[in-house]
Formats: sequence, structure tokens, C-alpha cells
Amino acid sequence: MCGIISIKGKNAIRKTISGLKKLEYRGYDSCGIAWKNKKLNIKKSKGYISILEEKVKNIKSELTIGHTRWATHGVPSELNSHPHVSMDGKFMCVHNGIIENYKELKKQFLQGYEFYSDTDTEVIPNLVSKFYKDLVNCNPSCCNRRRNSKYSGECYGSKCKCASYCDDILTAFKMAIDQLKGSFAIVLINDYNDKIYFARHSSPMVISKTKDMIICSDINGLDDKSNTFYLPDDTYGVLDNDFEVFDTNSKPIAIKYSNYKGGIENKLSGYKHYMLKEIYEIPNAIELTKDALYGASLTLPKNISQILFVSCGTSYHASLMAKKYIENFAHIPCECVIASEFISSNNLILPNTLGVFISQSGETADTLKSLEKAKSQGVYTLAITNVQNSHITLIADTTVLMRAGAEICVASTKAYTTQLFVLLQLTNYLIGLQQGNFRIISEKIQSKKQDKVSEGEISKANTCVGATELVEVLSKQDCLGISSDDIANLTGLDISTIDKQLDNLVDKIYLHKQFHLIGKDYDYITAMEGSLKIKEISYIFTDAYPCGELKHGTLSLIDENSIVFVIMTERDLIAKTTNAIHEITSRGGNVVCITQFDDIDLSDCYYVIHLPKLNQLFMPIVSIIPFHLISYKITTKLGLNPDKPRNLAKSVTVE
Ligand code: F6R
Repeated sequence: MCGIISIKGKNAIRKTISGLKKLEYRGYDSCGIAWKNKKLNIKKSKGYISILEEKVKNIKSELTIGHTRWATHGVPSELNSHPHVSMDGKFMCVHNGIIENYKELKKQFLQGYEFYSDTDTEVIPNLVSKFYKDLVNCNPSCCNRRRNSKYSGECYGSKCKCASYCDDILTAFKMAIDQLKGSFAIVLINDYNDKIYFARHSSPMVISKTKDMIICSDINGLDDKSNTFYLPDDTYGVLDNDFEVFDTNSKPIAIKYSNYKGGIENKLSGYKHYMLKEIYEIPNAIELTKDALYGASLTLPKNISQILFVSCGTSYHASLMAKKYIENFAHIPCECVIASEFISSNNLILPNTLGVFISQSGETADTLKSLEKAKSQGVYTLAITNVQNSHITLIADTTVLMRAGAEICVASTKAYTTQLFVLLQLTNYLIGLQQGNFRIISEKIQSKKQDKVSEGEISKANTCVGATELVEVLSKQDCLGISSDDIANLTGLDISTIDKQLDNLVDKIYLHKQFHLIGKDYDYITAMEGSLKIKEISYIFTDAYPCGELKHGTLSLIDENSIVFVIMTERDLIAKTTNAIHEITSRGGNVVCITQFDDIDLSDCYYVIHLPKLNQLFMPIVSIIPFHLISYKITTKLGLNPDKPRNLAKSVTVE
């Protein structure tokens, strides 16, 4: 988690602050900046970047490291915020990730060192400082290490013969990172020279070379996204007017730049909060995604026996919905696993499994790690993400991009609904695949019609479990019974018709301490996602159950103070869902029913929210919107910031 930006160039402080603001979605509980003006300086603050900005507004420098934090070790405070400084004040660093062995490192190498923070990070500048001192004092054991390193040479301490080409700080930095266990993206500056040292292991970073040299935890922190180099995993290096990157054996790595256009639109466009803006953008987000998907083809293995979905949070809920779509209509068995669980369990992977990894940001550490694990087990992997060039797209075998536009609010709204739309299209493709509506890629290559596919894709296919052939699924026609009018109704949805029904309800319930949400089948998944949305931003306790589960426990909580949201969008399930409503109302509970049906008696309900009537397959996309809006309205009524809920961040880049 956390955001890093480090700049070598003119007006580096102002640019670092501006970059940190763009990275605030990765964490925003505290922040800090260190810069060099002959000497090293540092300023930190608890809270948003704007507070830090005030503290450094008239200062100029051409060398910085900056950090916005999401606390893992130690409370959010100035002391715990980055950059962290070595005891001798000579090294300063920022870090994303977690150093798992920091206590052992303190005991093994840093006896007698004083630490001022509760963080794991503080060991890093101290280790570099210690190893650097060892090197310049020419401790014989260090000479050995040094001989083994890229910068080998005979060492005579400060009279070192190799002083002209030997970068002791780079050697000390490498010695320090060799000791670290866990995950890290690290950037370090020092008092001795004006270089920037960096390293990464399981935590992404990019380097941008334009008129400034910039290192950043992701591309969203950069204004100019041309000429960016994605630092490969397990590398380290040094940056001055240019930069060098090495692998763990200190072999230089070739630099390959990418050019990326687009980025986060940081504008509220008249809305009070990004969350509200993004909810109102749902129809447009779906329309843009539809335009990009229609007529597109997708490369998948032939003969898929099972689909394994791996994702987190809201994206996991989208995968649960996909399981229903695919099992009901494409008849392929699906399994949905939460990414952090996938990493730590032994999963039985069947031959011909397609792995689908859903991530709005494309940067979620648990999902990326799972993807790597699945690939190492021979699974052909498909990423579904909203962010072009995000890390997931670099690792997965193939990618489908959603076009929801930047989602800045921490709580996912338009991205979730767009994910559902993409997953419906995936179902359509899979039906097309079964109907033989595909082209074998090897044939395409042989007939020299090669465009988007490469020989590499064929060899990729051969490495996947049982997937001996990759095919290009050409299903342009509709296999799900969705007409163009249905699509037009969805993309033309007027969010305000839902919005205007909610103020009266929110006025009555916003001070409640807990809510229950129930539904059956697809509606149960909407209940789970609605529950996550409310608790995430309003801090009110919520839970979600299938209707039939109430009587197996939770019904004991129901009394005349209870508010239970009941989602009812499937006609076949009306009888069973209304049973659940009666079970609640007969115990005095208050039911808020969300439905598109107006031909059933809901007079027992405390409140009814009427949904627009759309094609049944789109109802999960529509029925979540009242929860987006209710969460938003309750949160703002409680005086909280819906865009930046406490303790959370938009992009969860730590495991
Ligand atoms: C909830 C929310 C999170 C994310 C989760 C995964 O509103 O946004 O639960 O869904 O952190 O993030 P991505 O989809 O970026 O991998």
C-alpha cells in the first residue's frame, strides 16, 4: 500500500507534492517528504497531503523522496510516517510493503541503534548506514562481500584504489536489501551524494525519464506518462541523470520504455464528492465498455473444463455474480476464491482450467500474487481490469479492459457495475466458444493473417494445463437474449429516478447502529456487496445473508428496532422472499424492500424502493445502485468523507 514518488529535477518539491496528491488513493493517513539542498531535510504530517504542502510551500530543491502512508506497523502519526532516517541522519528512505523480519534484523545487525518509530521501515536506512560504515572502514568481512558484488575491487577503506568507480552506497544498499524478507518498494537518498537508490520485491514501481527523472509507485502519480520503465520484480538500481537497474545477481537489466496516454481525471465536475459523481457515471461507464467490447475478440484456451475466479472485496462479489451467470448460461463449473485465501491454501486445479482475475485497479497485491501462483501451476490467465498498463495486465496471459474511467472514491461503484457487464459479455463469449464460434489461432498464424496474435501465444497455450490450443472467440452475436433496446435502456438509465426515492428513508435510518441485508440467488450477492458498501464508508455494522438463512440464527437479533433490507428482483423467488419478509415483520422488524415488481403486496414493509424494469440479466447491475446511494447519503449525513473512509485505501498493494 502507500504511495511513493521521488524526483530528480527542477522544482522537485512542488512536483512531489502534486504527485503525492495523485497517489493519495493508495493511502492517506499521514505523509512526508525529504529533500536535499546541500543537506538533507525532512517534513512530515498526519492527515492529508494539503497539510504537508503548507509546510514546504516556499522551499526549493532538485532532489526529493515523498510518501503517502497507509499504516501497517504503528499508528498514523508524524513519527511513524515516512521518510525514515538512519540514526546518524545520513540516509533517508521511503518504503511500500512490509519487512517481516525487521525485529530479527535489529537484533542481528543493529544492536545499540536507537529507533524512534514503531515501523518496520526504520531498519532499512539504518542497515544501509551500518553496511556503508563497514565498507568504508574496510572491515575484512565486508571486503569479501564487496568482491562478490558488481563493484568488486580491492578495498583500502577511505584510500580505496577503486574509489573512482566504486559506489559504496550502492553496495551497502544491495547488502541491506539482501537481508530483507517480505515485500518492498524502497527509495533512498543520502547525505554523501545526490543519487537516488531504489529496489523492489513484490511491490511495484515505475521510473519515468522525461525532463525530470522520477521514480513512482505507479503510473498514476506521473503527469507525463511517456517514457516510463516498469521496474521488473527483484531488481535494484541507482538514478542520477540517467539510471541503471540490476537483477539480484547484480547483472544490468535492459531498459525498455513504454508510452501510456490517459490517466486519472481528477475533476469533481460540479459534484460534491467523487462517490456521487461515479455513481452517476454508471450508465456512461457501461456504454463506453460496451463500445470497446462489441466486435472485439478474445483469446482463450479451447475446451475449458472449469473457471477459477480469484479476486478481493467488491471484485470478489463480481466474481460470485459471474459464477451464477456462467453456470446458468454457459454451463461451465466455476469456483470463486478470495485472493488472500488462494495464496495460502492448496487449491486443486483441474486440467483445462481458465483463471480469471478481476481487479479494478490492477494493482491489488493479493490478486497479483494469486495470478502468479496460478500461472506457475499452468493455468491460462485472463485479467479483467479498469486500468490500462496496470501490473495485472503485464502478468496475465490475456486481458479484458473495462472502460469505466478513473474511479477515485475508495468505495467501488461504477467499476463494480461495469465488471458485471463485462462478466455478462464473458458469459456470451463462452457460449459462443461452445457453439464453435471461434478460430484456432495456429491456423490464423499459418495463414499469415497474423495481427494481434503471436507465436508466443501458441507456446503459452502449450504450457497451460491441458490447454493445447488457444482460440480466438469471435462471438459477436448475442447468445443471451439481450436486445439492443435492452442495452439502450441500461446505458440510458436515469440514476436520479432511484436517487429521489432515498432521502426520506435515509432521514429515518441514518442514526441506526446496524443493518441487515438479505436476498436469494443473485440478490444475495447484491446483499453482500450492499453490506460491504454501507459498512465501508459509514462505519455502521452490517451483515448479509441468504433469505433462507435468517431462521438459522440471525432472526434472534430481529426486533422492532431492526432495519432489514430485502432485495427481490427474481420473479421465481417472490414467494420465498416474501416469506422471509413475513418472518421479519411478524417479529416487529422493519423491512426496506428493493424491487422492480409492482404487482405484489408489500404493505407490511417499512419502505419500498422501486427499481427500473430492465432485462432480468441486468437487474444485479441496477439493484446495487440504491445501496451505493444510501451508503453515500448516510455517510455525508453523519459528516464523514465518503471518498476517503478511515483505515482504507483505494489500491491495496500489500498482502
Ligand atoms: C470496496 C472496494 C474494495 C476493492 C478491493 C479489490 O468498495 O473497493 O473491496 O474491491 O480492494 O480492489 P481491486 O478491484 O482494485 O483489486
